[in-house]
Amino acid sequence: MKYAVILAGGSGKRMKSEIPKQFISVSGIPIIVRTIQKIIGIDIFDRVIIAIHSDWNDELLYLINKYKFDKSKIIIVNGGVERIDSIYNAVNHINSSYGIFESDIILIHDAVRPFITKKIIYDSIEALQLHDAVVASLPVVDTMLWVENAPFVSSMPIRSKLFHGQAPDSFRLQVLYNALFNLTSNEKKIITGTAQICMLKGIEIFTICGDPINIKITTPFDIKLAEYFCSLEVN
Ligand code: C5P
Repeated sequence: MKYAVILAGGSGKRMKSEIPKQFISVSGIPIIVRTIQKIIGIDIFDRVIIAIHSDWNDELLYLINKYKFDKSKIIIVNGGVERIDSIYNAVNHINSSYGIFESDIILIHDAVRPFITKKIIYDSIEALQLHDAVVASLPVVDTMLWVENAPFVSSMPIRSKLFHGQAPDSFRLQVLYNALFNLTSNEKKIITGTAQICMLKGIEIFTICGDPINIKITTPFDIKLAEYFCSLEVN
């Protein structure tokens, strides 16, 4: 089976908005709807699992009906306190409902990255034929600063070795499952990216080329950028 998970369980504190950022509309369409459209529209996933805080369940159901998404493919699970807990809930649901088999793959994406491209999805899935864990990423263009004791710069890592990790992160599901359920509580605390779950367990992570348009909408400025991207109609 091919699974896609859309992580939408966050509260969006950094957006300073009353509603979680994934429910904010960009050019008239909620961000989460745009992301679901991209993932479902590609029609290669058997199931799309959306992790959401229970307070927003009804709103999500309303949007699923309004935008006429294929309900037979969508499963809603509870978002967890932290992002990693939302991943746990999604993977646990798959295991208890369908079991986990060797050929299963899973793509895990952020609801707040609505500009994911078909190419990123296809490249991620193709890479899983040879690799266990795959992340979309781009080389950094800025010089990055290691600021151990802010505001003083401790070092400047060699730029050519640095990439931005985007999402989606994709895995052979058995590999992710084993890594996820063997994490220690200390390891869980430091995770910021999904592929890190596997990296912490010594699994090789393969990068595929992300896309500058695949931004994570995080701040009010990103909303403006997203509106601009929508106006370009490049998606
Ligand atoms: O908070 P951050 O920007 O890292 O969130 C990335 C994605 O993870 C968002 O789509 C957010 O809704 C999701 N998330 C989640 N469960 C949480 C926290 C964040 O699914 N507890």
